[in-house]
Amino acid sequence: MRTSYDRALGGDGVPAALLPGPGCRLVAVGAAVPASVLANRHLMAFLDTSDEWITSRTGIEQRRVAPAETSVADLGVRAAETALAAAGLDPGTIDTVIATSSSVDVTFPSVACRVQARLGCPPGPAFDVQAACTGLVYAVGLADALVRAGSARRVLVVGSEIFTRVVDWRDRGTAVLFGDAAGAVVVGPASDPGSEILAVRLGADGHGADALVAGSADPGPMPDPLTPDRPAPARSLGRSVRMNGREVFRFSTQVIERLVRELAAAAEIPLDDLELVVPHQANSRILATAAGRLGLPLDRFVVNLDRYGNTSTASVPLALVEAALAGRCRPGAPIGLVAFGGGLTWGGILLRWGETAVGLDDARLSQRAAAAVPAGIQDAGGTAGE
Ligand code: UT7
Repeated sequence: MRTSYDRALGGDGVPAALLPGPGCRLVAVGAAVPASVLANRHLMAFLDTSDEWITSRTGIEQRRVAPAETSVADLGVRAAETALAAAGLDPGTIDTVIATSSSVDVTFPSVACRVQARLGCPPGPAFDVQAACTGLVYAVGLADALVRAGSARRVLVVGSEIFTRVVDWRDRGTAVLFGDAAGAVVVGPASDPGSEILAVRLGADGHGADALVAGSADPGPMPDPLTPDRPAPARSLGRSVRMNGREVFRFSTQVIERLVRELAAAAEIPLDDLELVVPHQANSRILATAAGRLGLPLDRFVVNLDRYGNTSTASVPLALVEAALAGRCRPGAPIGLVAFGGGLTWGGILLRWGETAVGLDDARLSQRAAAAVPAGIQDAGGTAGE
């Protein structure tokens, strides 16, 4: 049966086109990840699952877990500081802050207001956007529109997740998928150095709302994934995740294909000239299926979910940071960012890669440096709670 989002993806939306106006830049991108590693084998201590099932069905091998005392805003501040430091930007030059999170600890104050205060940005608009895992792409699209309209000059966008306080650790269908991380992006005027934002494409179809829900029902006591003999730390607001995995899988493969084709069409480039796609990291099989539908080699897709799982709004900036640090973003290359998630929502951004500043704050590496333990000594699986 064709759902309404099938029809929306079939071309009923606004045609994609190159954006008007004097232009807008993605000036900086940063990401922050907590130190503790939770490998698949650690989940097997309290869930009826296996490393083989998780890796073969999802591609995920491990995820990071934030300490109990860390808030969503704390992790977002680290990502934002990393992005600003990479670009050599003073927080005083940020006039607008937009944050997005699928795992907020309080409804208000917004994550954006807390990040703004902690960074010392001047008083100005600060608010959160909710579009589930598409939140960061929505927020960057909004920031682009504000800058083009002259309503903002330099916007800080933050996507921060402590999803391990949202998932039900007794539900093997969802618990194995998610992890904690934050990402941040600075969007500035054409006079700033950075990557040009060429096209933005956002969409949603609420008819698919029931397919993926983080609700308020209290799932009751559950184990702490790092120390299963103890109860989990305080839960976040959307503390019971329900997902129709197969439906979301089907939607995701369709929507990635559609977004990538639209972004290439907007830039009037053959699909094959799109050098890199930085997708939301939900499942490696989704990405392989989408690449196959597009006829693109999978190595054009950035995949890092094996090490972080699905980090919702943080996943696209975290993947972009790692791709750039690995030298995969060629100056002048068209690069597509694509995301999808609950709502159902979807969004894509086309960049022409330029002098975007990039930084990664990996607390695991900082801990190792502090302990003078050379990186690479411990295996990728690490130790839960480390
Ligand atoms: O950012 C939000 C977007 N989210 C996504 O994009 C997620 C999209 N969906 C998916 O990635 C996949 O649907 C999942 C990874 C969630 C599930 O994979 P699947 O291949 O669709 O599995 P399934 O739900 O059809 O379940 C197949 C079997 C079931 O057992 P039976 O009924 O065949 O006996 C499940 O109970 O696998 C079982 N199963 C598991 N077994 C071991 C489900 N989860 C697990 C598990 N370990 N963790």
